Amino acid sequence: MSEAKRLAGEKAIDYVEDGMIVGVGTGSTVAFFIDALGRIRDRIAGAVSSSEQSTARLRMLGIEVLDANAAGPLKLYVDGADECDPHKCLIKGGGAALTREKIIAEASETFVCIVDPAKRVPVLGKFPLPVEVIPMARSLVARRILALTGGQPVWRDSAVTDNGNWILDVHNLSIVDPVGLETELNQIPGVVSVGLFARRRADIVIVGGEPPQVL
Ligand code: 5RP
Repeated sequence: MSEAKRLAGEKAIDYVEDGMIVGVGTGSTVAFFIDALGRIRDRIAGAVSSSEQSTARLRMLGIEVLDANAAGPLKLYVDGADECDPHKCLIKGGGAALTREKIIAEASETFVCIVDPAKRVPVLGKFPLPVEVIPMARSLVARRILALTGGQPVWRDSAVTDNGNWILDVHNLSIVDPVGLETELNQIPGVVSVGLFARRRADIVIVGGEPPQVL
């Protein structure tokens, strides 16, 4: 599986143009992209990072990490996913970086998602849906999600996000209307962000393999 992740991550370099500030996601697939980016670091102007984890790896490879506010709109964002449906809607947040990932995806003209073949699903929801919550709202949000969806929210043990918040993972969902569910869950007070990337979904999906498949 990590070979498929490597092939997807390296293929995404095709979308990097000279002088770009590149939006960079989080996770083991993105780590391969960052390593490949390190090999062409002199061609790019820097990166905007979605997590402390990615920031550390980017800096270790000599890539300048820029503040999102200073960088402004980005041309390219490259990130992984936990699940990807045929419409390029995603579940993300397995690595707890969903909020910053969502901000960078929204700020970017093109979102290239890099996955291994196991991430492709007909309907989202087998992977528990991560929801980042303000700590004092954890119990309220869990009750609301249960009532609204029938899914079972589980507090992710000892996970604190880079923003100081907590994660609920919602099990047993079958997400037939990803845009509707994302919109609905976003309305619950205390929800910081929902790991459904449907309103702003991927533009391009690269599935790692020999050769990589571009969807
Ligand atoms: C982190 C994410 C990751 O993109 C997602 O969990 C996939 O990770 P990996 O590439 O390690 O399988 O959303 O919050």
